[in-house]
Amino acid sequence: MGPSLHRLAAAAVIGLGIGAGTCMVPAGAAETLAVPVAARSHEAIRPLRAPLGLDPQKVALGRKLFHDPILSADNTISCATCHPLAKGGADNLPVSLGVKGAAGTANSPTVYNTSLNLAQFWDGRATTLEEQVNGPLTHPAEMAATWPDVLARLRASAYGREFRAVYGAEPAEASVRDAIASFERSLVTLDSSFDRWLAGDDKALADEQKRGYALFKSYGCASCHQGANVGGNMFQRFGFFGNWFLDRGRSTQADLGRFNVTGKPSDKYVFKVPSLRLVTLTPPYFHDGSVADLKQAIRLMGQYQLGRDIAEPDIDLIVAFLGSLVDPARLAGP
Ligand code: HEC
Ligand code: HEC
Repeated sequence: MGPSLHRLAAAAVIGLGIGAGTCMVPAGAAETLAVPVAARSHEAIRPLRAPLGLDPQKVALGRKLFHDPILSADNTISCATCHPLAKGGADNLPVSLGVKGAAGTANSPTVYNTSLNLAQFWDGRATTLEEQVNGPLTHPAEMAATWPDVLARLRASAYGREFRAVYGAEPAEASVRDAIASFERSLVTLDSSFDRWLAGDDKALADEQKRGYALFKSYGCASCHQGANVGGNMFQRFGFFGNWFLDRGRSTQADLGRFNVTGKPSDKYVFKVPSLRLVTLTPPYFHDGSVADLKQAIRLMGQYQLGRDIAEPDIDLIVAFLGSLVDPARLAGP
């Protein structure tokens, strides 16, 4: 694509945002943000909903498996090693480290609210949470295990009895996947200040957070980071305006993103738009973990995704808004 086509594509993306209810306040006109309660049902960001129909026994079993290194080849790494729940569900390393310190190729995303995403992983290569489990369990730079070995160890442990109680059978690949996915579906951060504001509580947000949200919409961030998970509902190219990968000065297989899944040239450098719900807690940023500072990530988003320089005071306000998406009590809770 030439630069003008890039511009067109981005304009189309922004159009999408308007369709989805983005309110285009001119940048800088943040004082116009006295959104009446009735209008909040049309906001670009939707409230989170409590998951329905989860079996508490499966959730409890999944929680135990999630925290148990028994799923790794040498009993050293659990899912929670790279997705510590109290810290926001991501490990804060540029790329994750698996068994024997093996370095992976991507930054760990949060496991909170991930059931809302249209697919799992930066490139969306797993369609469901059940399918996703296979990735870390067998990846040589993550848990480096094999299913037959893991199942044999689970059957020989106290899990044998627990699976019989919950699933009526010995641990099996399908029930392990099901229990972990059930647990992950329970990881919804329902009670952020922003969600309380969406529900009509005007005092839930500080003035600067309201102004930050207005800017988030007026700059066009919400054309991609939108919906209940403030992301996770579409794939987009990284670099509509300029070439991030050229500017960063190296290129890896993981940088090809969605192309690695579909093989379509138009999917090169395309990624799932990440959720921003816990983004203030989960540095470093981007699929390559290359940017340590949230303000810098926002600056780069303005530059590469929107073709705009975002004024420094506006970046601070957007950071304040993003902080309102966190539900600290949920992170501390069970
Ligand atoms: C060694 C660190 C490591 C371990 C162990 C690990 N993960 Fe991950 N996880 C990652 C990384 C890195 C990614 C992103 C990989 C990618 O997209 O290519 C990821 C992605 C995910 C995602 C996708 C989230 C999204 O928004 O796309 C889910 C869900 C997830 N992991 C759950 C698990 C579960 C369940 C386990 C245990 C069975 C686990 N992880 C073990 C590092 C780890
Ligand atoms: C055209 C779509 C698009 C627009 C517009 C957009 N983003 Fe993004 N954003 C993405 C994609 C895609 C990524 C993932 C890039 C990667 O890691 O390769 C991303 C990543 C991010 C990240 C890093 C998240 C993480 O967990 O690593 C932040 C923070 C972010 N965006 C904030 C913003 C802000 C603030 C704006 C508005 C100034 C914005 N984005 C505009 C598509 C977009």
